[in-house]
Amino acid sequence: MPNPRRTACALVLALVVVGSSAACAPARSPIADGTPTTTASATPSASAAPASPGGFDRAAFSIDDPASVWVVVNKLRPLNPISYAPKDLVTVPVAHDNPAVMRRDASAALVAMFAAGAAEGAGAMQVQSSYRSYPVQVQVYNGWVSSLGKTQADKQSARPGYSEHQTGLAVDISPVPLTCSLAACFGTTPQGEWLAANAWRFGYLLRYPADKTAITGYEYEPWHFRFIGVPLATELHTEGVETLEEFFGLPPAPDYLR
Ligand code: DAL
Ligand code: ZN
Repeated sequence: MPNPRRTACALVLALVVVGSSAACAPARSPIADGTPTTTASATPSASAAPASPGGFDRAAFSIDDPASVWVVVNKLRPLNPISYAPKDLVTVPVAHDNPAVMRRDASAALVAMFAAGAAEGAGAMQVQSSYRSYPVQVQVYNGWVSSLGKTQADKQSARPGYSEHQTGLAVDISPVPLTCSLAACFGTTPQGEWLAANAWRFGYLLRYPADKTAITGYEYEPWHFRFIGVPLATELHTEGVETLEEFFGLPPAPDYLR
């Protein structure tokens, strides 16, 4: 039986190739790397967030602006506008099973992370899926619904406008050579174990941990990493907080409102 994840990714391959060049732009976002600066234009909106012991400013960047590196996207927090597309997409110069396209700072961090993983003995990694536009996510989600039905699809794939992949800040990673691709066993590969322990150093977060499905709304995805910038990733690591929802004091998002 065909693996529905692979089928979905083949579709992504075709659609991203068509859509990515028109979406690329060279402009650099002043807030894209998540390092707080006095020129940040994002509107602080994390006022409900609990205080950090070390004085970390949890309102330094917007969690609502889709262009903010701290944007929180889940089943209760769609992108606004729903068809948002990033302005600084670039081709990520790394190995890939499908086209590798992300926002500029996420791309640079991914290049550094893959190089460090290889140098530190984790083995080679490749991009399985990266930026997905709203129309691409329509195709991916509908493919899942056709394969598994809506209830199970919603545990594994985001509806259009609700996917972190649409921000250009999320990436699905596989080993080279390809094994355990988009499967739970990726978490026990050298690459998966190294990423779980070290992604924070490069500003990435394992977004869908096994023990947080009631908060994130998604089953364990050891391959899905979200770029949030080194300062926030370091703070989460230091505090031992696994999800953005918990860190920012947001409600759990197990289901859509309708
Ligand atoms: N698989 C993740 C939840 C997505 O579709 O964005
Ligand atoms: Zn993903």
